[in-house]
This record gives sequence, C-alpha cells and structure tokens, in this order.
Amino acid sequence: MDMMRNLIRLVEAFGPSGCETEIAQTIEELAKPYVDEISRDTLGNLICRKKGSGPKVMFSAHMDSIGLVATHIDEKGFVRVGAVGGVSAKEVMYAPVRFRNGTRGLVCAKEGAELDKLKVSDLYLDIGAAGGEEAEKLVQVGDAAVYDTPVRQVAGRVISPYLDDRIACLVLLMAMERLEEGDNDLYFVFSTQEEVGCRGAKTAAWAIDPDYGIAVDVTGTGDEPESKHQASALCGKGAAVKVMDHSVICPPALVEKLMSLGAEKGIPVQRDVLQFGGTDAGPIQATRGGVYAGGISIPCRYCHTPTELVDLGDVEACADLVAAFAACRLEK
Ligand code: CO
Ligand code: ZN
Repeated sequence: MDMMRNLIRLVEAFGPSGCETEIAQTIEELAKPYVDEISRDTLGNLICRKKGSGPKVMFSAHMDSIGLVATHIDEKGFVRVGAVGGVSAKEVMYAPVRFRNGTRGLVCAKEGAELDKLKVSDLYLDIGAAGGEEAEKLVQVGDAAVYDTPVRQVAGRVISPYLDDRIACLVLLMAMERLEEGDNDLYFVFSTQEEVGCRGAKTAAWAIDPDYGIAVDVTGTGDEPESKHQASALCGKGAAVKVMDHSVICPPALVEKLMSLGAEKGIPVQRDVLQFGGTDAGPIQATRGGVYAGGISIPCRYCHTPTELVDLGDVEACADLVAAFAACRLEK
C-alpha cells in the first residue's frame, strides 16, 4: 500500500461531520480487497467486516472532519460562518478552504477583532465573489467548508490537514492489509460525526454489540516547546496506548494487553494519558451492558489546525499494533 498516495486520497475526499458520503466512498474502494462484507448504516457509518467465529472486535476510526458552515451571505459577497466541531478561530485565520462544489475561499477576521479573544463569529470567508448575488450562486447557507491546505512529507513526518482522523482511517486500511489469520470476528468501522460528539460510533457499537472496542484516533502530544504536559504522548515514540482521556478510562488489563503485544512483536508503544478531548472509545465502552474499550492513537501536533503533524514511524507502529490485536487470542 502506497502510504502517501492513499493519505492524499483520503485527505482530499470531502467529509465534514454529517456529510461523509464522499469520504466513505473513497474508503470503501480502498477497503474492498481486504474484507468479506461492507455495509453502511443510517448514520452513514461504513462497516467493513472480516468474519471470524471468535469474539467480536470493533475498531473505530472516524472519517468525518471539522469544518466551517455558512450561516449568512452578505450583500458584498462575504460569507459568515459557524463551527462544525472544535474549530479555534485564531488557528484558522487565513486558512484556504473549499466547499463540496469546488468553491474556494479564505478565512478572514473582521477588522479590529483582537486575536486573543477571536471567536468564530468574528470570522468570514472571502470566496472571491464581487457581490451577494454572485456569492449566492457559489455557496448556500448550510454548506460546509473544509481546510484546503496541502499534504506534505517533511523528513520522516507529514504535515497535512485532517490527520485527525484520516491518518487513523489509513492505519485501519494498512492493518487490514497486514492481517494474519485469527478467530476474531473483526469489524472495521469508519464512523461519522465524531467531531460533534461521537454520534456515529454510538449507534454502530450498539448494533455490532462487540466484545472489545478499540478507537483509532490521533492524540495530543507533550513535546512542543513550553509544553504544559496535558498529553503524555511523544511524537516519534510509537503507537500511543490509551490509558484515559475525558471520555474513557480504559480497563487496565486491556492497556496491559496492548502494551505487552507491542513488546512481544517489537512494535514501539507508549502510554497515552490525555487530559482533554475524547474519542469513539467513550461511547463504545458505554453501549449496552458495557464493552472492554481502549484506544490506539497516533501522536499528533497542532491538532485541529489546518496543518497537523504526525510521525510516519508512529503511523506504521499503530498499523502493526491494530493488526496484532486483531489477530490475538481474546476471551469472549
Ligand atoms: Co478531532
Ligand atoms: Zn479525532
């Protein structure tokens, strides 16, 4: 599997929360050779199953991205916006964006707005329109825009928009390709609407009723200059095994299982304690009578900005760890 080529395909597919049809189509094409059946549910989750007679294991990587939604188009042709998911106004200033129909624009802030106090309501998009009439032909209220920044390999790392969570979608695809024989009944879920409250994983987990659930997502890092250590994971130090975040505290036995699988197979692993944020592991753990839920994460710097950064070695480690867990012997 050509990692960079597929990452570019995944990042370029349109898919803000609630509008995941295009990204789901792209993933379905890439996943098809590796699984027995593929289905979609009412919320748009893409569920790829590799059948087995053993315990059900659900992996979940969300395929939606954050974005901006058009809320008002003024007579000069500027587009006011609201946030889809966790968008920080000051982090998106002057980011290029694109709509599904190919309309492009630039995020700007109204004059006099103070950068430190900047809110999304202070922002507007300049889509190049000469006036309101022209703008309304290009964009409708309710249309979502996504970052239009490029994917670039920089030494052993990659800088790209939407590594959260397209890099995890890629990790699941890489793991599918590396799967060894095993008994487990595997469900690779590409979930929807994670960025607005893990909504897709909630219904998928209820329907699948798994014995184990592993969210595959990015996690924060604690290695930038002057880091306050709100995240324990370090870029380049391997697959981050979730201990806890704001949505979940993982069963210690599952954390140990993943850590020891790493040691056994020579996969670099590290413990991941995140003091903010959550993942699909939260709703998976709390479905029905409860599920053993954990997380395998790719450490990611500058998360939710138009230019996120991950280490390619960490991506490999995560794919290996997902494949190892998928094939390992588990109690029902
Ligand atoms: Co996110
Ligand atoms: Zn995410």
